[in-house]
Amino acid sequence: MKEFWNERFSSEEYIYGTEPNLFFKSELDKRTPGDLLMPAEGEGRNAVYAANNGWNVTAFDYSTEARKKAMQLAEKSRVDLTYHVGDFEQLPLKPESFDAIGLIFAHFRPSKRSHYHRAFIDLLKPGGIVILEAFSKDQLTYSSKNPKAGGPKKEEVLFSEQMIAEEFSGLNIHRLTKDEVELAEGEHHVGKSSVIRFIGEKPA
Ligand SMILES: C[S@@+](CC[C@H](N)C(=O)[O-])C[C@H]1O[C@@H](n2cnc3c(N)ncnc32)[C@H](O)[C@@H]1O
Repeated sequence: MKEFWNERFSSEEYIYGTEPNLFFKSELDKRTPGDLLMPAEGEGRNAVYAANNGWNVTAFDYSTEARKKAMQLAEKSRVDLTYHVGDFEQLPLKPESFDAIGLIFAHFRPSKRSHYHRAFIDLLKPGGIVILEAFSKDQLTYSSKNPKAGGPKKEEVLFSEQMIAEEFSGLNIHRLTKDEVELAEGEHHVGKSSVIRFIGEKPA
């Protein structure tokens, strides 16, 4: 999959655009800036938006091409990003060091996903939040009617509300919904789609 993403990100254009995900933006805008982690951040649209708005942003992805474009976007916006390339397990991230973690279309392999989600909770400071938007299992129906809607094609990589409730158990749930949305994110997230939206807060 790493090769798939490097290939996809090797085009000149930003494949999900340069504007942040709308749900991420609306949730981030409600909060006081602090330390933010963006796993699987791709070309940097969300990280750069956050940095522009006063957040101290650490991002990571396993695609070198993604980092290249994210750093170019950051440079264009004159903001700093700490952006690691590599496997999450190897990254120098400290427990309880983030006020927020943004998981935007971060569809990890099923063999890793629940371990990663548990580990993200450890990285949150008490009172810190997870902001998550990702495709639901229903997206298979949407993307079969409209391939431009995008999303993983394997059911086991897609999310359900129950999965999120279980994997982020221990966080106080402020929102956990499955929503039909109209995506307009670059070339690859376009049209009616089904997403899970989650806001979870680590108890203080
Ligand atoms: C659909 S893109 C989303 C990118 C970005 N979050 C956004 O919303 O624009 C999925 C991203 O997940 C990354 N990714 C998938 N599995 C990963 C893993 N195990 N470790 C790091 N990044 C991963 C891919 O390289 C890709 O950048």
